[in-house]
Amino acid sequence: MLSEIRLFNQKKVLFVDDKPFYAVAGEVHNSDSSSIEYMEGIWKIADELGLNTLLLPLTWELTEPKEGEFDFSIPDALINQARTNNKRIIFLWFGSWKNAEMMYAPEWVKRDRKRFKRAEIVKGEAKSLRSMGPYTMPYYSLSYLCEETMHADANAFSKLMRHIKDVDESFGTVIGIQVENETGLLGNSREVSDEADLAFESGVPDEFAEYMRNNTDSMHEDVREAITSSKKSGNWSEVFGAVADEVFSAYHISKYVNYVAVKGMAEYKLPTFANCWLAHKGEKPGQYPSGGPVSRMHEVWRYCAPAIDVFSPDIYVPDFMDVCDDYSKSQPLFIPEAATHSYAASRLAYCIGHYHAMGYSPFGFDDIGKPFTMVQGFLFGMDVNDPALKTPQDYGIYSWFGKTLSAMMPVLANRYGTDDLQALCAERASSESTMDFGKIKIAGVFEHPYLQLNGNGVILAVKMSEEEYFIIGYQAAVSIIPGDAKNFDILEFEEGKFVDECWVRGRRLNGDEGTNFTMADPQLYRVRIHTYNDEI
Ligand code: DGJ
Repeated sequence: MLSEIRLFNQKKVLFVDDKPFYAVAGEVHNSDSSSIEYMEGIWKIADELGLNTLLLPLTWELTEPKEGEFDFSIPDALINQARTNNKRIIFLWFGSWKNAEMMYAPEWVKRDRKRFKRAEIVKGEAKSLRSMGPYTMPYYSLSYLCEETMHADANAFSKLMRHIKDVDESFGTVIGIQVENETGLLGNSREVSDEADLAFESGVPDEFAEYMRNNTDSMHEDVREAITSSKKSGNWSEVFGAVADEVFSAYHISKYVNYVAVKGMAEYKLPTFANCWLAHKGEKPGQYPSGGPVSRMHEVWRYCAPAIDVFSPDIYVPDFMDVCDDYSKSQPLFIPEAATHSYAASRLAYCIGHYHAMGYSPFGFDDIGKPFTMVQGFLFGMDVNDPALKTPQDYGIYSWFGKTLSAMMPVLANRYGTDDLQALCAERASSESTMDFGKIKIAGVFEHPYLQLNGNGVILAVKMSEEEYFIIGYQAAVSIIPGDAKNFDILEFEEGKFVDECWVRGRRLNGDEGTNFTMADPQLYRVRIHTYNDEI
């Protein structure tokens, strides 16, 4: 097995080629991987940014353009390109769902609305209207209750997985697969066809109702409240009260996704992900895709979709860290999509250093450094009063972080699940400002009287031994302070980089620089410290 999730230091960690691994990744724009010629230029950018993994869509429509006729020329070519460019791939299966819609379903599915039923969103209508900024677009989605579509999707997915096994098992270029994309229903909190109403009025399976009642600890308050104050058995409203519609949608969607995943995994087992369109604060199910793997529905998904290893958030909302907290509670953190504003690089380092994340992947990474498009402006929250959210990520800075963190993979990933790898960031500075490494502590400074810091800083520190540390920092300063030991001397303080997994020293900095560890630009330092308790 070349790629799998294993328990390592009591934490679930992605292993690739028998070693702990994190994906310093980037997701391409939806259409890029449909053209091999177009992709030629993208690998070069990935390389410049130091990425080790690309997230690439594969669509049902191009995989099975005619029913029963499969075309794997695109995955084959992408896998070859990745090997030539020394990169890994996580494929994204755009099957029945893409952004809660059905745009990548094949033509033969779209044309046959009797066989491949649409979701009835308004009674008698398989359509609703969605406003997106200045535009209003019709919205259609395939029905999550239609077994015919589920079987057809699963059949195509399993053929794809079989093919990936045939061409890639002995290489391991493909290290993971996302099953569907941003599932859920928009426009209503559940489907409302006669069939859906009938299912909603029927009894909730007892085992599921019991599981939900017995697993309320990690639930959002309103979900827990609705479940604990409702009947133990009965129809969906009776058992799930105020959250019944969303639970009903989540139950059917997660079972559908699980079915597709199981069929695929029976052919070739890879780590699986289900990515999530998050709810903005105050939104109701249906305003965000109802039934998708939002954290409030994780218990439903855990019960119904055991074939999915990780529920992964697409984070464009400003409260990035709260989302990471939510999605790392009982699973590894994997962020398949993140905004490319000026927090992007720092968040990459923080996700690795603090959450020991499986992967982090800016969406449309080839846009890094360019002015925002209208869509990005809308997605990244241009209306939010934070200059860092309105500033595009600097290309050179992201490249420094990507290359440095990729080169440090063994140093950092081997310490996943331990306190020897920690991080601080400006976004969290008010609540977490010190890393405790036992004999010493490292305190972060994100507001400095002599430095103009942007508020998007980060510090990552790794303890190699009682004496030796590496510190990455940007838009920050650190002070090393006594921990369990009363005194310490800095023996060595140097800058440098990792080449072929080995530290290559640059300047020795024991003079002025050692008295103030400032890191306005990205820095990687090695520090050796002698600690002692006896009086001087
Ligand atoms: C989230 C989706 O998962 C992506 O495929 C893409 O549509 C981005 N949103 C927005 O550009």
